[in-house]
Amino acid sequence: MSGIYIHIPFCKKACIYCDFHFSTLKNHKEIINSILVEIDLNQKEFKKNNISTIYFGGGTPSIIENSLIKKVMQSIHKNHSIQEECEITIEANPDDITDQNIKSWKEIGFNRLSLGVQTFNDVCLKKLNRIHNREDAISAIKKIKKEFKNYSIDIMFGTPGSTIETLKEDLIQIKKLNPPHISIYSLDVEKKTPIHKMIKNNKIKMPSSSLVSEQFDLISTEMEKMGYINYEISSFCKEGLQSRHNSNYWCNEKYIGYGPGAHSYDKKYRYWNIRDNEKYINRINNRQPFYEQEKLTDTQKINEYIMTRIRTKEGINISDLEKRMGINLMTLKKEEIQFLSEELMVENFGDNIVLTEKGKKIIDHIVEKITV
Ligand SMILES: C[S@@+](CC[C@H](N)C(=O)[O-])C[C@H]1O[C@@H](n2cnc3c(N)ncnc32)[C@H](O)[C@@H]1O
Ligand code: SF4
Repeated sequence: MSGIYIHIPFCKKACIYCDFHFSTLKNHKEIINSILVEIDLNQKEFKKNNISTIYFGGGTPSIIENSLIKKVMQSIHKNHSIQEECEITIEANPDDITDQNIKSWKEIGFNRLSLGVQTFNDVCLKKLNRIHNREDAISAIKKIKKEFKNYSIDIMFGTPGSTIETLKEDLIQIKKLNPPHISIYSLDVEKKTPIHKMIKNNKIKMPSSSLVSEQFDLISTEMEKMGYINYEISSFCKEGLQSRHNSNYWCNEKYIGYGPGAHSYDKKYRYWNIRDNEKYINRINNRQPFYEQEKLTDTQKINEYIMTRIRTKEGINISDLEKRMGINLMTLKKEEIQFLSEELMVENFGDNIVLTEKGKKIIDHIVEKITV
């Protein structure tokens, strides 16, 4: 089983918190042509069979002309062998959701859609410099619901201006609209993003850490009441509707990434394409190297396993890790795991180490303690 990720590096407007690779220029066709060449070249010599998931992410794939998206999909099918039940997702922004786009995406072959809502509160959306408003988001979800059984919405908490009340409003909307899948992220402030600079210059106020922690608790209890399974730290779904593409990442499956900034993984090497649209185009056109690679050491492989599995509902399976990598984490990190259990940050379920609700809030600290 392998996944394909296509990175579409364009957005209409820059959100202040975003650290993903994108440009607001409009040379969509040029980039898509280079992505088509990259797929044909297959310079990383990936085996191209048994593809179980395809994900068009970004940036904002929904702003690209559908004729270009169709060309990429045709090239993927021409160059790879795709499983019949393949999950095929497109990321979209609410202001791009029209009946015509939905119809075209279904015709092209998408069977799942991921919508970036962030919040239903107009004041918070404005502070984040989002292009859409509450009404756009609600009307988009209503349209998507009619055509896609499998779709997801992205929500963020801990954003400037957000409170317990704004979050309660978001949760009421979620209950009304009842999407099958929701990714809920706590806002990360990355260096070099506009929000980082705004905070430093006192131009924007972030919520306190105690408020963010309260928001986290409210999300956990309310989502459970609504019948969602918290199958990964940021991911909630109704029974059987988890994201298969993301689950593959967390289960150490291979993936091929095409497009500027896209990452690939073949269980031995990690590859990352250059994060610059112009350079990507030039290097592809001139058949020059457009990516870097790193061979993973055993320690890196063990730590990847720990870091990804600890995020999931099943957690780290001690025997499975021992079988794959020849180490017994329970022995190697005995004192740390004992301490984290006593502090109610992790629990042992049989052979598995799983995060508690308390642990989920300080996952970075836990990862630091149990990686090797
Ligand atoms: C790469 S974006 C692409 C989706 C689409 N362009 C959009 O913004 O709606 C995927 C999701 O990542 C989340 N995200 C982006 N930057 C984030 C940050 N700094 N902290 C937490 N979540 C973030 C947002 O919820 C966003 O919807
Ligand atoms: S959050 Fe989405 S729409 Fe906003 S800049 Fe990032 S990729 Fe673009």
